[in-house]
Amino acid sequence: MRRKLAAGNWKMNGLAANLTELDAMKAAAAADKVDVLICPPATLISRAADAAAGSSIAIGAQDCHANASGAHTGDLSAAMLADAGASHVITGHSERRVDHSDSDADVAAKSQAAFDAGLIAVICLGESLAQREAGDTLDVIGTQLAGSTPDSATAANTVIAYEPVWAIGTGKVPTLEQIAEVHDFIRAKLVARFGAEGDGMRILYGGSVKPGNADEIFAVSNVDGALVGGASLKASDFNAIITALGNA
Ligand code: PGA
Repeated sequence: MRRKLAAGNWKMNGLAANLTELDAMKAAAAADKVDVLICPPATLISRAADAAAGSSIAIGAQDCHANASGAHTGDLSAAMLADAGASHVITGHSERRVDHSDSDADVAAKSQAAFDAGLIAVICLGESLAQREAGDTLDVIGTQLAGSTPDSATAANTVIAYEPVWAIGTGKVPTLEQIAEVHDFIRAKLVARFGAEGDGMRILYGGSVKPGNADEIFAVSNVDGALVGGASLKASDFNAIITALGNA
């Protein structure tokens, strides 16, 4: 049985004052039916880890460098993020792939760096609207999955997130059939490559998940949770998503 995961990605949002939201998520997380992860901006990781101490909320980062240390001004290594209190790191988010030209090989290297530092990588995949309209979705996802996931990935160190680029922050959500098609495809590829470990990896859906659509998305086959952007900023929204996942 795969334990469900409700993950929040705060992106470039959040100052110290917003940690009160994290505090207000503790009660929902305490139901202990699902794993809960919040990925604040790197500036808040240490304070978020302190704020979450004693609760079941895990803290993650949104990106890491592929190298362990060195002359990379402005970058952060996976070991630094772990040292600050992170247990997870998102790799290959489409905003990194677009804004910072992260390739599949970059994402694999960052994910390997995460494993080496003892972090769990949340590896993101997703097609653009043009790719979906051209009928290329499964080809794109298959290529990204193969190229972005290190050979050393296991059920314990890897979470996959399927996030159609056109559904992120837009309020547009794929049909449940479209979500099922991609999640089932990812599961088959993971099992073919990693066997039982691939069967144990969580596959999250991301892209405009809200309290109002969480129930139906969580009922879809091979959806083991969500990676949530906008609706993870406020405890009132994210708690409802945590509860929906716990009831799924
Ligand atoms: P959204 O973002 O929930 O705001 O659409 C999802 C994500 O990018 O992880």
